[in-house]
Amino acid sequence: MNSSDISSKVHRLEDYAPPVWTTPEIALRFDLDIERTLVRAEYKVHFNEIGFVPELPSLFLNGVSLHLISVRVNGLLCEPNQYRITSLGLELFKPPAKDFTLLIENSISPKSNTALEGLYHSGKMLCTQNEPEGFRKIIYCIDRPDNLSIFTVTLCGDQSSYPILLSNGNLISTRVLENGKHEAVWFDPFPKPSYLFALVAGNLAHVSDRFVTSSGRAIELRIFVDEKNIEKTEFAMTSLKEAMRWDEETFGLEYDLDLFMIVAVDDFNMGAMENKGLNLFNSKLVLADKKSATDETFESILGVVAHEYFHNWTGNRVTLRNWFNLTLKEGLTVFRDQWFTEDKTDASVKRIADVLFLKEHQFAEDAGPISHPILPKFYVEMNNFYTVTVYEKGAEVIRMLSLLIGRETFKKGLSHYLKEYDGQGVTYEEFISAMEFVSKKNLDLFRNWYHRKGTPNFKINEIWNDTTGDYSLEFIDMDAEALSLSFPMSVALFTEEGKIKHEEILEVKGKSFQRNWKNFSSKPIISLQRSFSAPIKIHIDRNIREYSFLAKYESEGVSRFFALQEVIFETLRKQFQNDSPGATLDLFSILDEIFREKEKIAKDFLSYLLNVPSLTQIADVLKCYDYEIIFSLREKLISLIAMRYQDQFQALYDENSETIPIQSRLEIGKRRLKNLSLSYLLHIGNIRDEMSEKALIQQRNAKHMSEELSSLRFLCEGEGSNRERSVADFYEKWKADPLVLDYWFSAQVSYGKNARERAESLSKLPEFRFENPNRVRALLGAFARNPRSFHHLDGSGYLFMGAALEKLNYINPQIAANLGKLFQSIRLQPEKPKEIAKLEIERLLKIKDLSNDLEEVLSKILKGL
Ligand code: ARG
Ligand code: ZN
Repeated sequence: MNSSDISSKVHRLEDYAPPVWTTPEIALRFDLDIERTLVRAEYKVHFNEIGFVPELPSLFLNGVSLHLISVRVNGLLCEPNQYRITSLGLELFKPPAKDFTLLIENSISPKSNTALEGLYHSGKMLCTQNEPEGFRKIIYCIDRPDNLSIFTVTLCGDQSSYPILLSNGNLISTRVLENGKHEAVWFDPFPKPSYLFALVAGNLAHVSDRFVTSSGRAIELRIFVDEKNIEKTEFAMTSLKEAMRWDEETFGLEYDLDLFMIVAVDDFNMGAMENKGLNLFNSKLVLADKKSATDETFESILGVVAHEYFHNWTGNRVTLRNWFNLTLKEGLTVFRDQWFTEDKTDASVKRIADVLFLKEHQFAEDAGPISHPILPKFYVEMNNFYTVTVYEKGAEVIRMLSLLIGRETFKKGLSHYLKEYDGQGVTYEEFISAMEFVSKKNLDLFRNWYHRKGTPNFKINEIWNDTTGDYSLEFIDMDAEALSLSFPMSVALFTEEGKIKHEEILEVKGKSFQRNWKNFSSKPIISLQRSFSAPIKIHIDRNIREYSFLAKYESEGVSRFFALQEVIFETLRKQFQNDSPGATLDLFSILDEIFREKEKIAKDFLSYLLNVPSLTQIADVLKCYDYEIIFSLREKLISLIAMRYQDQFQALYDENSETIPIQSRLEIGKRRLKNLSLSYLLHIGNIRDEMSEKALIQQRNAKHMSEELSSLRFLCEGEGSNRERSVADFYEKWKADPLVLDYWFSAQVSYGKNARERAESLSKLPEFRFENPNRVRALLGAFARNPRSFHHLDGSGYLFMGAALEKLNYINPQIAANLGKLFQSIRLQPEKPKEIAKLEIERLLKIKDLSNDLEEVLSKILKGL
């Protein structure tokens, strides 16, 4: 495909028009078979009358890779000249009336579907993934989110291969048929777009539970898994019930069907999917027990189970008018799941983790060739727009709104929105105006967050008048051309003694904005962007002393953490520039203080405070992308800290070495501190061997995966003699558990300069399969996130990834494109490796049958060079 084709494949927001035809009712029938499944749809078709039309237009149905069997209109078989089939669908030339029935039959092959979109198989199970445009790979259909239908689904399949037959809504009837088959009929009373349709067929075990809603309805909850994983479902079930209760308590939102199901799927392109009443999950976000899952995995499960459940209202009951508005459901639902986790765990620790993720991934995306507004205006392949921008920046935008109008008003606004638009597909505009309606606030400038791309940069000036005691802050949007914004800026003004004199949430508006305060006896010390109130970069002239002050006195955890990060960056910068021996002075005085009062600091928060930023973060701050330089800077700082606080780390390690393998704040905090201490101690030359033995012992005696995996990671990172033992032991113990084996693949390629050789040999193991997205992400995703190896100056990292992308292009274009995005950072590299990457991208763009997915991503990256 050449680049002139790609522009003809672009979908543009400005071209949006409501559907001409809709299908308010669909009766689907599946004769399930892994080789060849027969699908039949009976549609009630309705003409969507908008203005006068002299003649009914033709009806277009989307359909991709389908084998058509027959088309019937009002019961009559159509002749081939009454319709036309193209690579994109079926056009029925002369619909008979404004309302009629259309019966379509086609067949599909789940077995050959390695793209994992539409109906496919994962092991022996059959399942679906339809968001955004997978339904058209199942049956000819009007596949757009503003076409809402009531679905009745009949599933028919072999009783021994497919004893379990699931779809959305409620089970209406089942019956046994001849020749070993059986049938189940499901009915979903809520109208929904095709992307929320799901089916599952397989030999699955399940656990069930009950949830009684606040209005007294009993809901049956079921989690379906492979028999062998039945013991790993408890945490997901508890998370689900907590999410259900929380949504009632926080927003007054109850679940609406009598049954809620989750199914764990091993081969899954993304995290999870909110199909009505039948959520499908990547196994790694359902299955967990203390032996096999890390604390981070447990927390992801909590958040994602909640996220998908919350979609039942924000996404399903009120859905999208078009895919450009994806952030309407995703940004909002991410915000809701973040809020939920903040409530269930620790608000500042969760917020720190979310902001670190945002800065590392979303800011990077927004600064590069695939930057786009949270409401993209065009796309070639919608799958490419499930981005950190649409999700995480989208969530920041909703969070800002909740800060501007207050959380209580926000809750009212959400209720108003859901009531007003129940059963409809809407846009961000309906959402924002609902918030305007309840808050009586004009949000015109705020709306521009949906249209402005890139992380906004704001210059902040402090103006202090010593004689009058007036203090002002001035905010200047550094991009004069870009759309004006409004956003919340949470500030606190401290006295020199470290007391808060005043705090408030400012609403900064427009290109330049000023706020004055009076009556200060000395210049206040300002804390800005508390709790990270807006996703912007601020530029303010201030010295390390002020950051040190805030790292010491700021009571708001997030700002305290980021003040300390600034001190660390300052320290690294000094070392980077001249290696001055005094570089660590300020940092050490803060750390001294932290260690002195460590008993008063929550353990998990303390573990964040003591953490040195990642290679990519440091590179980004120092604007130096030579990762060997960055690596040695970071190593040096870690060693200096380790040596100065050796006794303290030793004590922390010992105090926290006995942990109870449960998911409580305290135990999680202990494990974090213990692992963190171990990693520092491993940086002290004269005790390294002894500590590495300890790490090995920790791995062997671990009662929780967080203890076991940390050892593996540290020993892989250290590249010392215990590395091979650790790797071998881990493999022997876990070779039968694919989710744990994913950790093992990742750990071996995440560190070091020479991970490419290792990645190459790991990719040749029988356990590595390009068909399994988790395994691909575990090996190739982890490799490409190891900057020392991916950006190796000899270009070998790029060639290795390029070859993998080529293979993936044919197997799973979505996964190929997602990994392809990691090439976005090559623009920052020196000419020589960049040239190698460029040639490799050019080569890929010329391969035969390049998917739209990969083509869109790679051509943007190439253009940005
Ligand atoms: N709606 C799902 C969720 O956020 C994710 C779907 C992702 N789809 C995709 N094609 N990447 O929970
Ligand atoms: Zn979502």
